[in-house]
Amino acid sequence: MVRLGQVGLLILALVAFVVVLGHSTPLSSANQTIVPLSLSQVATYRPYTYFAATGYCPANFTLSWSCGVNCLGNADFKPVASGGDGEFSQYWFVGYSPSLKRVIVSHQGTQFSDVVSIIEDAAIIQTPLDPVLFPGIDPNISVHCGFADEHARTATLVLAAVKTALAEYDTSTITAVAHSLGGAIALLDGVYLPLHLSATVKVNVVAYGLPRVGNQAFANYVDAHLSLTHINNRKDVVPIIPGMDLDYHHPSGEVHIQESGEWDSCPGQDNESNLCSTGAVPSVLDGSIADHDGPYDGVLTSCSYLTNA
Ligand SMILES: *[C@@H]1O[C@H](CO)[C@@H](O)[C@H](O)[C@H]1NC(C)=O
Ligand SMILES: *[C@@H]1O[C@H](CO)[C@@H](O)[C@H](O)[C@H]1NC(C)=O
Ligand SMILES: *[C@@H]1O[C@H](CO)[C@@H](O)[C@H](O)[C@H]1NC(C)=O
Ligand SMILES: *[C@@H]1O[C@H](CO)[C@@H](O)[C@H](O)[C@H]1NC(C)=O
Repeated sequence: MVRLGQVGLLILALVAFVVVLGHSTPLSSANQTIVPLSLSQVATYRPYTYFAATGYCPANFTLSWSCGVNCLGNADFKPVASGGDGEFSQYWFVGYSPSLKRVIVSHQGTQFSDVVSIIEDAAIIQTPLDPVLFPGIDPNISVHCGFADEHARTATLVLAAVKTALAEYDTSTITAVAHSLGGAIALLDGVYLPLHLSATVKVNVVAYGLPRVGNQAFANYVDAHLSLTHINNRKDVVPIIPGMDLDYHHPSGEVHIQESGEWDSCPGQDNESNLCSTGAVPSVLDGSIADHDGPYDGVLTSCSYLTNA
């Protein structure tokens, strides 16, 4: 009897809770604007995820677009130029996607241990953006030195390839897409490329497992000037480093993949809801290394040529 009574009370309490939730906005507002993506919205990212994975392939594989399942995921792609040596400079490729009607720029990411060592290096110090590469940029903007260096190594080659692609194909849209360290380089491309191209050219960025790249002024500049989607998988630790206490801030545009596999759109910068990376992974000790490489809707971010020729 006592047990039944307790269950009854619990049910009553639950009903009351649900009624309260149904009526009040203040109590539940923290969750209301975190919007799950529909399955068809999630599916629109699939080609970009394949491009991010293909960023890991050596330049001769992307130039001939023969890298196995990741290349076949964008079978109609027309490569324009590829480069990098995978050691001193990250691999990259530029080309045209007829089905997405846009120029694609992609960069190689890094193994988890490498991205952490780059981030945690002395290079964790911030630097203003180079006024030669970023003419006229607000001098208050500063970014991670290591990311700025990696970006500078390929920037002018990537810009030349983008100009060739824009001249050759009928589009004025560019998407820079990459994973991890590559995502940081792609985000810097998203700031860099428009400064050297006609104002009619639109640049957006899709990044996976993106670390924090710059300070508050950088995050605000990105929010004001370009469209960014950064997709974080479960408890991946990379998106929460370097820490906000070191004056690193994410721009808006996070999509967070939950343990359930649901993709949620997180509003604002560094949203602290536990449905978003910053809230879900309060410290590196709470984070996962394995989640960094995905899977992102079934796709792992590595070059597929070794396993699937
Ligand atoms: C790329 O170069 C490597 C090393 O020279 C070679 O083993 C590989 O077969 C080449 N791949 C393609 C697709 O040309
Ligand atoms: C840089 O920051 C200072 C102080 O916050 C501000 O007064 C100044 O306007 C900023 N410069 C630019 C170019 O926005
Ligand atoms: C985080 O998301 C909630 C919605 O759950 C929103 O109300 C809040 O303003 C967001 N926080 C930031 C920092 O943007
Ligand atoms: C949001 O909802 C989830 C479950 O749907 C819950 O775990 C979480 O505590 C709620 N609140 C916030 C702020 O995320």
